[in-house]
Amino acid sequence: MCGIVGITSKNEKIVPGLIAGLKALEYRGYDSAGIAYLKNHAIKIIKSKGRVNDLQKIVNMEEETTTGIAHTRWATHGKATSKNAHPHSFGSIAIVHNGIIENYAEIREELEKDGYHFKTETDTEVACALLSFYYDKWKNIENAIQSFSKKARGSYAIGLLCKDIPNTIFAIKKESPLIIGVGDNENLIASDVRAVLKYTSNYYILSDNEYAIITPSEVKIYNQQGKMVSKEIKKYSGNKNNETKNKYEHYMLKEIMEQPSIIDTTIHEYFEDGISSLLAKMPDLTKYKKIDIVACGTAYHAGLVAKYLFEEKLNLETNVDIASEYRYKRLFLDKNSLVIFISQSGETADTLAALKKVKNLKVDTLGIINVKESSIARLVDTVIYTEAGDEVAVASTKAYTSQVLLLSLLVFSEAIRQGKLESDEQEKIIADFKKIPKQLTKLLASNVYQQIAKTLYQQKDIFYLGRRLDYYLMLEGSLKLKEISYIHSECYAAGELKHGTISLIANNTPVVASFTNEELNEKTISNIEEVIARGAEVTVITNDLDYKGGNGIKNIIYIPKTSDFVIPFLVVVPLQMIAYEVAKLKKCDIDKPRNLAKSVTVE
Ligand code: F6R
Repeated sequence: MCGIVGITSKNEKIVPGLIAGLKALEYRGYDSAGIAYLKNHAIKIIKSKGRVNDLQKIVNMEEETTTGIAHTRWATHGKATSKNAHPHSFGSIAIVHNGIIENYAEIREELEKDGYHFKTETDTEVACALLSFYYDKWKNIENAIQSFSKKARGSYAIGLLCKDIPNTIFAIKKESPLIIGVGDNENLIASDVRAVLKYTSNYYILSDNEYAIITPSEVKIYNQQGKMVSKEIKKYSGNKNNETKNKYEHYMLKEIMEQPSIIDTTIHEYFEDGISSLLAKMPDLTKYKKIDIVACGTAYHAGLVAKYLFEEKLNLETNVDIASEYRYKRLFLDKNSLVIFISQSGETADTLAALKKVKNLKVDTLGIINVKESSIARLVDTVIYTEAGDEVAVASTKAYTSQVLLLSLLVFSEAIRQGKLESDEQEKIIADFKKIPKQLTKLLASNVYQQIAKTLYQQKDIFYLGRRLDYYLMLEGSLKLKEISYIHSECYAAGELKHGTISLIANNTPVVASFTNEELNEKTISNIEEVIARGAEVTVITNDLDYKGGNGIKNIIYIPKTSDFVIPFLVVVPLQMIAYEVAKLKKCDIDKPRNLAKSVTVE
């Protein structure tokens, strides 16, 4: 989603720094890019459709300028064209913006009556015009920002230049993320701290309804009323070198391959001193009678796995909701409820809004978050960090397995706490957890995924089937395939297919199915036979080593028998690999799939 970077430096020519900052934000997903800088009391703007590399070709990297803002745009209002790309300018003002101005149509109409003419369909041009209108009215930029914040509804992180005010960047923030990097010779703004690491690891996090005035030697932060606020300076503690692909062709493959070692590290950490360290590190859930889990996309799928485990292992009622629905629905929560928010980025707008709604109800919240100090991580009552490291590929892989691992450990710890597992069962499950890294390494060494991909990559529709836990895992496999290979795919609970969707199964329709639950395997196998009878060609993932397949079964991936707590990893990692190999054969832009954004900061 849109990425913002801005630099104001004592002496450095800042165009290369802006371009480097934009490149660090590329992972967020975008379709056009642009920069604006101050030079000789004027603002120069250069924009282009496509990649930051396309923008780099048309900017002067040697330009004599020390203050500028830049942007990668993920289109919301108006197509992905260079005209609609940011920065936008009006009068003395130029801005870059991440978010959505919800009342932009109404503001635009009012400004048009005042004689303003708009060149684009974007809400950002309207925001810029409104700021310019107030600036012309008050002849004071701070008054303009305060008036803007009162009038504009929606979400916005804005970087602003004013041609009358040299060596200065203004930042305004409501709901969309924005940080201020504090360097020795320059200060910066960015959507994500990763964009400023070339200059500094020190940063401030702007809170909602704050704005800042940033010069090369000073950062001043104010609340909406114009009162100065003081802030704690943060230090980036992540791995600055995470962002190389090493020997891998794609970040996605690198991140898939990192999973065994991430799981290994997490398991060692939680079982450092056996069960006692697990119990000490995991929150006590004994008092809760009901759990809601809220997330989007892949994180939602991790939530479904947790639902299965909460219900099966703890007998605890658990509902999982998509955040964009949850934030608008009636909630049935009380003091015995816990709401769990799962998010890799910790910035997903819908998840954040749902969290704010629950906080207002004063119900307990727990976050399973990857990015430290992210908005959701800061707002939940309790946070458990997944230790996946930076995930650069847009399609989530290692963040998902890290989420599922922590949720599995959470349920396991609670099952022990509530006396639901005998000690020999506990030992067996711990042993199963500890086996995951080796089992995954073995699965990842196979070349079966390339063979399967050859049979799938030219297909138009692919179906995924499973029951109970397998269904939840196949949902993730189906999403992975869709997002990076652009092949239409649907996932169905195996027993549901015959209630309509089976009409889509015809000769050679590819189906991927998994069955890993002894009690349900026969049922799923019957459903597989039903699709084979209609011509489907099926790839199976199973831990039933006696299953030999038959007519219509094209591939079988055998996974080891293990506990329910562990099955998800062994099923989903092969599904990630199938999606990856299919997308590779289709020559798709695997790390940056079309239309997708890594951090979805608009509703
Ligand atoms: C898919 C994917 C998305 C995210 C979703 C939520 O591979 O990555 O579906 O899972 O946008 O993002 P977070 O976890 O950052 O809240």
